[in-house]
Amino acid sequence: MDLWLLLDKSSGLTLQTQVFEQIRRLILCGRLKPGMPLPSTRELSDRLKIARNTVTLAYDRLNDEGFIEVHGRSGTYVSSDLPDDLLDPEVRSSSNGTDDIALPQKEMRSPLLCYSGFAPGVGQIDQGRPEFDFWVGRSDPSTFPLRSWRQIMLRKLSTSSSSLTEYGDPAGLSELRVAIAGLLGRSRGMSVAPAQVVITNGSQDGLNLICRLLNAEHPVFIENPCYQGAAYLFQSIGAELCPIPVDKNGIVAEKLPKDRSGVLFVTPSHQYPTGATLSLDRRISLLRWAEETNSVIIEDDYDSDFRYEGRPLTALAGLDGGKRVFYLGSFSKSLGAGLRLGFTVVPEDHADLARIVKSQMSQGQPWLDQAVLADFIEDGLYDRHLRRLRKTYMARRDCLTECLDYHFGAVDLTGSDSGLHVAWRLPSDAPPASEIERRARQKGVGVYALHSGGAHDFYESPRNDTLVLGYSSLPQHDIECAIERLRKVL
Ligand SMILES: Cc1ncc(COP(=O)(O)O)c(C=O)c1O
Repeated sequence: MDLWLLLDKSSGLTLQTQVFEQIRRLILCGRLKPGMPLPSTRELSDRLKIARNTVTLAYDRLNDEGFIEVHGRSGTYVSSDLPDDLLDPEVRSSSNGTDDIALPQKEMRSPLLCYSGFAPGVGQIDQGRPEFDFWVGRSDPSTFPLRSWRQIMLRKLSTSSSSLTEYGDPAGLSELRVAIAGLLGRSRGMSVAPAQVVITNGSQDGLNLICRLLNAEHPVFIENPCYQGAAYLFQSIGAELCPIPVDKNGIVAEKLPKDRSGVLFVTPSHQYPTGATLSLDRRISLLRWAEETNSVIIEDDYDSDFRYEGRPLTALAGLDGGKRVFYLGSFSKSLGAGLRLGFTVVPEDHADLARIVKSQMSQGQPWLDQAVLADFIEDGLYDRHLRRLRKTYMARRDCLTECLDYHFGAVDLTGSDSGLHVAWRLPSDAPPASEIERRARQKGVGVYALHSGGAHDFYESPRNDTLVLGYSSLPQHDIECAIERLRKVL
């Protein structure tokens, strides 16, 4: 059996204690069930790259305490007669365990110790913005549905304000989880039970939650270039990052190793930063790879609400039938990042553990915004709002691409079919992207080289030939003025 343990050599605990503790915890929380075989001491020590005697001593201790039993030469098993009341009651009632993917929770390491490889600076604080700012993925404040939001909020406060003083379900308000499950069924081809949905503080919080569910011991395969917010987080938990190249059809599935299992992080709807949409055949290849290598996929479906050409492709989590894909959704683009509302959908057999982990992280999200959003979706206002936004943003996209063509000739753009930004691969005779960014800034125009635009790449000398331009927060006449200024800069 595949037993995933995370050992931390810098922890104050001996390796033997860590092995003992982690296996004990897996047994107590019901993930290792009575009668299940454990790997041999040789197998486990090889896999963990520690001395065999360390595992033997940890097994001896588990045996002495009655957690496991040794059946002579046939192997070591979880004790078949563990008293029921030994198990953690909260988890006992909920966990149905998974034999093939055992995912213990783990200790977080200090992020500060792990940040050395990347420069800081995800996101942008609203200070000193240039006059025309193509900052990526910023929703236009004037599009926020303030009137309906206020009405629903007042209604909620007058009818259910007692929820303000009670703890809610850590996984989120049930009405909102139901509404989101319905939304995903309609728009993303996903068949999701509300119990699989956990409401989070934006998708970044969802990613933190998933990191706690998974195990940093396994490598993280990640798009190259990729979203900084994800790369930094994975790095902060000490995960090994394995970059996989991206082309115009998204992550190149054939480049995934066939002989390693791990966690794959992808942004299939609108790859960040290139904007590529992952083609269907690649989606299927990724799922096949995950199945064959016993891996899991984290699907960050940010920007999926904005597809301008053709129908949106079914989410990986929809194609997968809820087995190996952890799905991240966000309302940061469709409503506003300041709401800090997002959600994650976990495979059914992780739902109970995810709820427990979310309670450990934050005891859930504030009630009022969840309640308002639930009604906003169920009353059909969210779908209407999205239709309106798509029209507005599509017009801005058209304006931007036309202006770029007009001023710079045929430009090499990716990502214009969907999402809220495009990536512009500069011609070979253009100055470096960071230099254009600097010059444009002096003229009041914010355009961004990959690194300052929230992207990260793993090349030895980072790529400096691409600009990212988010158009969602700029009205058309601003886009026209800005691109004209940019031409003067160049
Ligand atoms: C790739 C990607 N995922 C997710 C998000 C949204 O993050 P959050 O929901 O935490 O605001 C962003 C924001 O820019 C993003 O670029």
